[in-house]
Amino acid sequence: MTVPIAIIGTGIAGLSATQALRDAGHVVQLFDKSRGSGGRMSSKRSDAGALDMGAQYFTARDRRFVTEVQRWHANGWAAEWAPQLYNFHGGQLTPSPDEQTRWVGTPRMSAITRGLLGETEVHFACRITEVYRGERHWHLQDAEGFTHGPFSHVIIATPAPQATALLAAAPKLASAAAGVKMDPTWAVALAFETALETPVEGCFVQDSPLDWLARNRSKPGRDNGLDTWVLHASSTWSRQHIDLPKEAVIEQLHGAFAELLHSAMPAPSFSLAHRWLYARPASSHEWGALADVDLGLYVCGDWCLSGRVEGAWLSGQEAARRLHENL
Ligand code: FAD
Ligand code: NAI
Repeated sequence: MTVPIAIIGTGIAGLSATQALRDAGHVVQLFDKSRGSGGRMSSKRSDAGALDMGAQYFTARDRRFVTEVQRWHANGWAAEWAPQLYNFHGGQLTPSPDEQTRWVGTPRMSAITRGLLGETEVHFACRITEVYRGERHWHLQDAEGFTHGPFSHVIIATPAPQATALLAAAPKLASAAAGVKMDPTWAVALAFETALETPVEGCFVQDSPLDWLARNRSKPGRDNGLDTWVLHASSTWSRQHIDLPKEAVIEQLHGAFAELLHSAMPAPSFSLAHRWLYARPASSHEWGALADVDLGLYVCGDWCLSGRVEGAWLSGQEAARRLHENL
């Protein structure tokens, strides 16, 4: 009987590793504490349609990732997004067009990880609390007290603080992960019945509680009649207001948005707030992936490279490559 490989985390890093290992003929079993795939690239179903509360778009600079994104495009999972971009700085809103190609999942961000998941066996709503090695194989313990296994290898593909908690078997890897701080981001979605009178479709923001905002319907495949916006607070503001109730976060970011557009903004017909505790690594690293090849334990995620979708995907590829080459 083939002993499968366990991968904890169905974000883009975990699914990148999954795909590479599947292509090399391995059997993989996935685990995620959420009810669906995507992690920080997931989309939230809501009364205002599917909303990308995390990653807004991604760029592709590495040749390998460019090729992969072309494949996603050909499969209908991703499309280019060319918004009317603005910059808000010193209280001034100015157009800020550029030549950068930006991609989004279609019709929602989570279409990409959903596509990559394919038919792979996955346990959703399953939070892993312990990763331990028996005589020959690995086992996972979940928060409900169930044990999963045996597995030949384990790849942990979660944000650094969540990886640290699972790395008791490999203290060196645990201490590397423990050294990575991750900053939070408050995200708010606001939907308006009547479209706001502004040409803005995406905006990089400075000197404000906000650091980014995007108009949902300007992204391909998302126009459902409502004018829905996603606002992201800066890391600093998010940290300072980490325990603020959601209603207060919505009110304050709605206010910052109105100030930015210099308009008496109507009340939204729908609003939603989401707190990402581990949104982005405070610094970047060049690890690719972390590994204890003798133990057969691997770690990947955006924090092993750049804190972007591309970095997470490349890190997953690297974990899979190292695992395969050490068989
Ligand atoms: P994640 O997506 O975090 O995946 C980890 C998975 O592990 C999750 O699904 C989680 O549920 C699961 N998990 C964690 N612990 C456990 C456990 N104990 N047991 C089981 N499962 C567990 N990047 C860009 O390139 N462009 C952007 O515009 C952009 N904007 C962003 C905006 C926000 C608000 C945020 C939060 C991120 C943004 N990013 C952006 C960053 C990008 O989303 C991430 O770099 C990337 O998605 C990280 O992927 P990952 O697979 O490393 O981790
Ligand atoms: P990118 O090249 O579009 O943006 C990189 C940075 O360059 C932007 O943050 C912005 O400061 C600047 N920039 C780019 N184009 C600009 C323009 N036309 N006008 C003014 N400034 C411009 O994309 P890349 O490199 O793929 O970065 C991904 C984005 O994801 C970044 O904006 C980053 O801040 C964001 N991100 C947000 C996270 C969060 O938690 N809120 C976490 C991780 C990434």
